Parts: sequence; structure tokens; C-alpha cells
Amino acid sequence: MEVVILPHAEAIGALAARLVAAELRRAERPVLGLATGSSPLVIYAALRRLVEAGDLALAGVPGFALDEYVGLPAGHPESYAEVLRREVVEPLCMDPALVRAPDGAAADLEVACEAYEQAIAEAGGITVQILGIGENGHIGFNEPTSSLASRTRIKTLTAATRAANARFFPDGDAVPTHCLTQGLGTILDAGALVLVAQGERKAEAVRQAVEGPLSSRWPASALQLHRRATVIVDEAAAGRLELADYYRETFAAKPDWQRV
Ligand code: F6R
Repeated sequence: MEVVILPHAEAIGALAARLVAAELRRAERPVLGLATGSSPLVIYAALRRLVEAGDLALAGVPGFALDEYVGLPAGHPESYAEVLRREVVEPLCMDPALVRAPDGAAADLEVACEAYEQAIAEAGGITVQILGIGENGHIGFNEPTSSLASRTRIKTLTAATRAANARFFPDGDAVPTHCLTQGLGTILDAGALVLVAQGERKAEAVRQAVEGPLSSRWPASALQLHRRATVIVDEAAAGRLELADYYRETFAAKPDWQRV
């Protein structure tokens, strides 16, 4: 795992976007794994600059969301399909027909989960997966004690996650209690993982993910199993990392050929 500590969110977005773009450019069948939430917005802003500069074309690139709420009607502004349409698909000039999320409004949710796994497989697998991290260490909506081998399935959101996401439901709508999420096993199948985190509130989750034991108690620790995982954080989110100085030295001394 590579851990990079940067001074501010814009630098995080710029580096993460360069990494994502490099992975997509060299893939035979590029497929982008998308996260929602606040953390990756800086990545999408930086990717947009690359697209607008003509350095990256995403029009033909399929995209797969990590997760979706269960029970929101199609077109609900806070469904992740809608959030991605507004915040990612349109600004990045992606093809809406090629970008999908698990179908949280399906009559048969298990069938919807299987269909989602199959769609990812048929696209050739996810080339690079963008990830945020919850304060309790979730990635996607794999809440604590999610199986490290899990696939796309229904999960119950923790009270803490629902409280954290209540800010997206200002009209008094309740945050849904359930979601469909790619499993930890699904996420680990991606060719590369890029996780970003900002702020002191994420510091414990980042510490557990990077330096803690591999444990479903902190689902993001599953990244330790991946051969090509990069964790990019600001100083506040890095605040509890025991080996922070080592990560800084490693990044500063990185040979040119390894830089993107
Ligand atoms: C959303 C997702 C979640 C978020 C996490 C952090 O698709 O997969 O794991 O990344 O809840 O959310 P923010 O970035 O809003 O703090």
C-alpha cells in the first residue's frame, strides 16, 4: 500500500486524478469505479480539468457506482444514480448509458445484486476504483464486520452512517436504512484502488485501515490485501498514523519513473 500525505484537498484531488487517468489510459478496456460522498469531489473536479484540457476522454468509459440506497424512488435527487449523473457523468462528459449503480428500487434486490456483479464482469472488471472512507472504516457501504470476501449485496446502514449522511437529506426525508453495495471482495477485484480522506474525523479510520490489523471490524483494512492500493490523505486525516514520517520520506524519494 502506498500512503501519500498532502497539505490540502486540492493537491489530493490532483494526484488522485492523475493516478486514475494513468490507469484508464493504459487499460485495454478502461472501466471507472465511482464513489459518492464529499471526499472524492476534489478528484472529480481535477478529472474535469483533464477532460476539458483534452488530456482525458471518458465518453466511452463505463462507470460503476460503489453503492446505492434501497427504497428511494428512481430519480430521487439523493439516490446515488442521480448524484453521479449530476456530479460526475455530466461534468466529465461520460455516457449516461454506460454508467450504472446497483438497482436499489428493484423488486428483487438479490437478483439486482447478481446482475450488478455480472455487469461489472461483462465490462471486463473495474480498472481503477475511487474510494472514500467512513468514520467507522466502511468503504462502499461495507459496514464493520462485513465479510472480507463479500460481493454486491444488501446491507443495513449503521446509525452512525445514517447520521453522517443526514446532511444530504435536508428536507427532512429519512436517510434510508438499507443499501446495496459492492462487497469488499468486489472492490478488491478492481485493478487499482485509490482511497482519499480529508479531515480529523477520518483519522482513526485511516489509521486502522493502513496500520491496524486486517479485520472486518475496520472494513477498509481490506485494502492491505490489494497489490495496488494508494491512500491519499491530508495532514488531519493522517494525524494518527504512526509511520507518517516514513510515508512522507517514501513519497519525497520516489524515483521519477514511479511518478505519475
Ligand atoms: C459512497 C461511499 C462511502 C463514502 C464514505 C465517506 O459511495 O462509498 O463509503 O465514501 O461514507 O463519505 P464522505 O466522503 O462523504 O465523508
